[in-house]
Amino acid sequence: MEFKGRDIISIRDFSREEIDYILEIAKSMEPLASKGSDMLKGKILATLFFEPSTRTRLSFEAAMYKLGGAAIGFAEAEIASVKKGENLADTVRVVENYADVIAIRHPLEGAARLAAEFAEVPIINGGSGAEEHPTQALLDLYTIMKEKGKIDGLKIAFVGDLRYGRTVHSLAYALSYYDVELHLVSPESLKMRREVLEAIKEKIPVKEETSLEKVVPISDVLYVTRIQKERFPDPAEYMKVKGSYKITLETLSKAKKDSIVLHPLPRVDEIASEVDQTPHARYFKQVWNGIVTRMALLALILGAVK
Ligand code: CP
Repeated sequence: MEFKGRDIISIRDFSREEIDYILEIAKSMEPLASKGSDMLKGKILATLFFEPSTRTRLSFEAAMYKLGGAAIGFAEAEIASVKKGENLADTVRVVENYADVIAIRHPLEGAARLAAEFAEVPIINGGSGAEEHPTQALLDLYTIMKEKGKIDGLKIAFVGDLRYGRTVHSLAYALSYYDVELHLVSPESLKMRREVLEAIKEKIPVKEETSLEKVVPISDVLYVTRIQKERFPDPAEYMKVKGSYKITLETLSKAKKDSIVLHPLPRVDEIASEVDQTPHARYFKQVWNGIVTRMALLALILGAVK
């Protein structure tokens, strides 16, 4: 297994063995995330975020600092020279002179792949339109492993916007490497993208549903997503599905006692705040897991961990 110098564009760039290894390294980063390390001293991460982000950008930057490195970058295209007409290819060819690794978020599908074609340094996809969010999938798997002690054998339900939600695309591909049963709960108009569905159905049992009530009692993991208002071509279509599902105390009264609720965040109204205090809620723990998973990825890609 060789990670040094690799791009992370799609979760499908990794095998199951490689994913399991990344999760192991993430676990070994837990003490370093608290006490710090100089493993990446002298290394620089550039974060080029052309779309809003709180968790992905800040956790990548925090992960770099915790390993002794540094981070530079921009959080909106308005303040970068793309505003003057500079294209993505030129932007990464310039930034690679300043940084050892680049994490990029872009509204266009394929943007991270394009950046990787032009850059000599590794490119990490921090979210490419509605397509993929591979590092989110890795931290989601790490969270499931940490909270449930395993991934194989679980019944996992995705709830919400499965068409435009990029996190569920990457996570579905990743889970298809494992022995899981996947339940996809969404409104008709927000069903899982066909190419993802076809790929995962070849490997694991998948059931599409519109009723949340049916899947709550059998699920070990409820992975809830926000309806991605910003990706709807027609606002009227968004209004039709807005608030389709809401996880409340009443919903969870029918859940398995040890089931967990995850969410990549940000949430809007799909999980009631009253759920935060229940033992099911693990979405804020997911945030911490984003740090250790991204520490592992940076250490592996920059060759500090073999
Ligand atoms: N989960 C996630 O990608 O969050 P941000 O949009 O805040 O980065």
